[in-house]
Amino acid sequence: MIRLLCTLTLGAMAAVTVAGQDDPPANPEMSVNDLMITIVTPATDTLWGIEDPQTAEDWQVFVDAADVVIDAGRTMKNGGTGPNDAGWAADPAWQALTDALIGAGRDARQAAVNQDIEAMYAAGEVLYPPCEECHLQFHPGFREQ
Ligand code: HEC
Repeated sequence: MIRLLCTLTLGAMAAVTVAGQDDPPANPEMSVNDLMITIVTPATDTLWGIEDPQTAEDWQVFVDAADVVIDAGRTMKNGGTGPNDAGWAADPAWQALTDALIGAGRDARQAAVNQDIEAMYAAGEVLYPPCEECHLQFHPGFREQ
């Protein structure tokens, strides 16, 4: 959590480096479930709720939200403190689905940097299937998304 917030404060250049190249953060100090509720959901709600950003400042909100999604995906690769998290992280299907989430986050980030609303919508559509597929596979019974 602290690491995610720090990344945000480092600014766009640093975020590219941190989100793009570093290894996933070691030993996340929260559960996957908490990460979903407190980090993934608000950031993706922001991305999916995009309306008509005008200024660079308006667009920065979406660059930041995409950075959060990218970093959350990278954190998920290591699981977390939840009882099932380590087992999930060890599953290749989990790794593939987190990669899909990270990829969609990167598409959204690029679209926001380019201030391209059509590309934002397209990235938003790519962002959704990993949520659904992963919940079907690892969190059956959860249908809300
Ligand atoms: C790689 C797998 C994976 C991906 C991708 C994923 N999730 Fe999850 N999500 C989970 C798992 C597993 C849980 C349940 C965790 C638990 O119960 O410990 C969960 C739980 C949740 C919850 C809490 C639901 C509840 O039961 O209260 C929300 C909300 C959520 N995810 C939203 C999202 C959204 C939005 C996305 C896509 C942007 C997403 N998730 C992508 C695996 C994933």
